[in-house]
Amino acid sequence: IEQSKRLAAFQSVTSHLLPFPNYTRIGIGSGSTVVYVVEAISTLLPATTLSTMAFYPTGAQSEELIEAAGFNLQYINKLPPGALLDVCFDGADEVDPALNLIKGGGACLWQEKIVATSSRKFVCVADFRKISPALGTQWTKGIPIEVLPLAANRVLGELERMGSINPKIRPGLPGKAGAIVTDNGMWIVDAPFKPLKVEGTSDREKGEWQVDELADALIKIPGVAEIGLFYGKNGKELREAEGGAQKPVE
Ligand code: A5P
Repeated sequence: IEQSKRLAAFQSVTSHLLPFPNYTRIGIGSGSTVVYVVEAISTLLPATTLSTMAFYPTGAQSEELIEAAGFNLQYINKLPPGALLDVCFDGADEVDPALNLIKGGGACLWQEKIVATSSRKFVCVADFRKISPALGTQWTKGIPIEVLPLAANRVLGELERMGSINPKIRPGLPGKAGAIVTDNGMWIVDAPFKPLKVEGTSDREKGEWQVDELADALIKIPGVAEIGLFYGKNGKELREAEGGAQKPVE
């Protein structure tokens, strides 16, 4: 699995950064796969190109990663209004055929979404285990949702009403009491749903949701800061235009 993550990372950097020495602002996601993305950037890019680039983290882990690699660390809050990053590399927990993603398994989803949506191009680096026919099939722990701590129980109630099967507040690290606290001082709720339809419409009574419709409903719950569904109605068109997701690396 580690070898697959590494191969996926090297392939991503080879296809989406190496041919573009004019890229200067690069987003770096969170998780165990992006460790290999940073390794690939260090290994494959000439020092002269690297010296022109600034790297934007998505949380404390990627900040450390960027610093440890000796890259130029910059922060998204300093980006002028309207400015964009050239590309953002990030991992995912599950990827459906329309390239919708579940993210947030490592509790970093909010900053990840800010950096991803501030980038002209988003490259999801995922090994073969992440490919799935429908979100919720492989990643069965639930959709990670970042919530205001005081609203957590209210959000749980709302999720149950929407058909989530046993949503839970994510506990802290073993030996540490209480909930996990995100880089933004929030908690994470994990909300399992029946596998999400890529197309068609939701049957809310049965708790059967289409990805975009569920995402739109989740983000409207008061107390929800951000959701770990990275989605978009144009995912399918994008996939067709670009010839599909690259073949999974085994
Ligand atoms: C972090 O919270 C996540 O969104 C990660 O991007 C995702 O969990 C993928 O992580 P791995 O690369 O460790 O599988």
